[in-house]
Amino acid sequence: MKDFKEIIAKKLEEKELGLGYKEIYDLIEIPPQENMGDFAFPCFTLAKTMRKNPKLIAEEVASSLEIDGVEKIVNENAYVNFYLDRQKVTNDVINEVIEKEDDYGKSDMGKGINELVEFSSVNIAKPFHIGHIRSTVIGDVIRNIYEYLGYNVTASNYIGDYGTQFGVMIAAYKLWGDKEAIDKDPINELLNLYVRYTKEEEDNEEYQEKARQEFKNLEDGEEEAMRLWQWFKDLSLREFDRVYGMLDIKYDNYHGESYHSQWMPAALEELKEKNLLVESDGAYIVDLSEFNLPPSMLIKSNGSSAYITRDVATALYRHRTYGLDKNIYIVGSQQKLHFQQLKKILYLMGHEDVSEEVLHVQFGMVSLKDQVLSTRKGHVVFLEDVLNKTIEKTYSIMKDRDNQIENLDEAAKIVGIGAVKFQELYNSRIKDYVFDWDELLNFEGETGPYVHYTYARAKSVLRKAGKEEFGQMNFEKLNTDEEYSLIKALESFQDAIILAKNRLEPSVVARKVMEIAQKFNKFYNSTQILVDDEKLKEERLALTKATSIVIKNGLGILGIKTVEQM
Ligand code: ARG
Repeated sequence: MKDFKEIIAKKLEEKELGLGYKEIYDLIEIPPQENMGDFAFPCFTLAKTMRKNPKLIAEEVASSLEIDGVEKIVNENAYVNFYLDRQKVTNDVINEVIEKEDDYGKSDMGKGINELVEFSSVNIAKPFHIGHIRSTVIGDVIRNIYEYLGYNVTASNYIGDYGTQFGVMIAAYKLWGDKEAIDKDPINELLNLYVRYTKEEEDNEEYQEKARQEFKNLEDGEEEAMRLWQWFKDLSLREFDRVYGMLDIKYDNYHGESYHSQWMPAALEELKEKNLLVESDGAYIVDLSEFNLPPSMLIKSNGSSAYITRDVATALYRHRTYGLDKNIYIVGSQQKLHFQQLKKILYLMGHEDVSEEVLHVQFGMVSLKDQVLSTRKGHVVFLEDVLNKTIEKTYSIMKDRDNQIENLDEAAKIVGIGAVKFQELYNSRIKDYVFDWDELLNFEGETGPYVHYTYARAKSVLRKAGKEEFGQMNFEKLNTDEEYSLIKALESFQDAIILAKNRLEPSVVARKVMEIAQKFNKFYNSTQILVDDEKLKEERLALTKATSIVIKNGLGILGIKTVEQM
């Protein structure tokens, strides 16, 4: 559809109101109530420049404007309200959705622009726990949003497979390891070792030293340390693959901390050359006091590298490898300081461009009702268990809803996993939230199942009518407010995706999908679709079809599949 906001802004500019195009454009609003038109232009700002009563100005502007495709222009107090030609909007929107189908809402605005999205980044030899759901799902959707808009995206899983904790794992295995037990239940056994060692190590200097030494051995390429590390890694990745499989999330690469450490020596060399490394008790730090940040330790006193050292090397590597617009890290807000330091170190190195492209996308915490989550203490809730439990619960709810669903197993998986994802994505990412099964599986709430159900309902109407394919048509009969309101929601789908991209905020898309589902249900409940009037019936069916397409596309961006029956 034509961009009427643009057209209206241009026409207003021609009126020489003393405001530029951009100012006018930014002032134009979407009225809060649908009976107040499609766009509104407030005249308060003009009152100052024109020294006139704003209501009078609105009246004059409204009566002197005429715009093709805008049916009515009237003032309401100090606002000029624009009512589009509904017939035309209806034709444009439904025909476009039906014609473009899977491509509706897509854009090529990102053509030739490279983005890297790093997300999930779980740690080897540790559980993939419920806390990881956030980065995993939010990151996947941010990647999808970019792709939908035509950007070239690299999805990277920065696996945590390096660092002192691997020293802990190796030292613990050498002391108490049981190969058979680990092969049987890898993650739990490795976790037990880790928890046991960190407990022992707490007030045992010797154990602490041993763990540090083992990591040093690993960095130095000592054979036994390397062998154990590789084994832990293989075991873990196999487990993780299962969870990513359940979530249907794919990566372009799993380049983790160890992979990038090959570029650490060069990065450290450069830091040294630029006189940025300062010795402090045998360790080397970068002083960040000029930015009011604590110093950052890049080389530990035993010579081994740190988490931040690998990130410096990684950021430089990504920059030269991918030619990035942005290097996006989907990581919890606990690591805010880490990324602030990273940016400043890159800046001090003279890589302002690399520093600029680093973008930390933060999110709040997830907690499970009545449970504290901490890997160190071993209070872990595995994400896989949460997903399986959700699928089971979904299965039994769907079974009870006396519906004859073919392949209920498969449907319960899609709806269950979708419910988890939808709950994750529905609120703005920075908010903390409590994981609650009753809420996320409430079929009547603002939930994934509600959207799934709406989609299935639309598809079932089409099946019942025996008409599922539509060509371009001339709409003449859709004239209720419910229909128009739904059509407008379909029309604004792409705007929501673009806004979500600009704010790196998946909830904007989730909320648009919810709005469409709610408006469809309003239409469905207030309007008979299968009426005797064949033309009217066909038009309502086409609107139903268009709705199903947009819901499907929206869920697709959210990483959620659809089910045909529910
Ligand atoms: N593996 C880390 C963790 O679990 C997150 C990695 C974040 N990404 C990064 N480039 N530092 O805390």
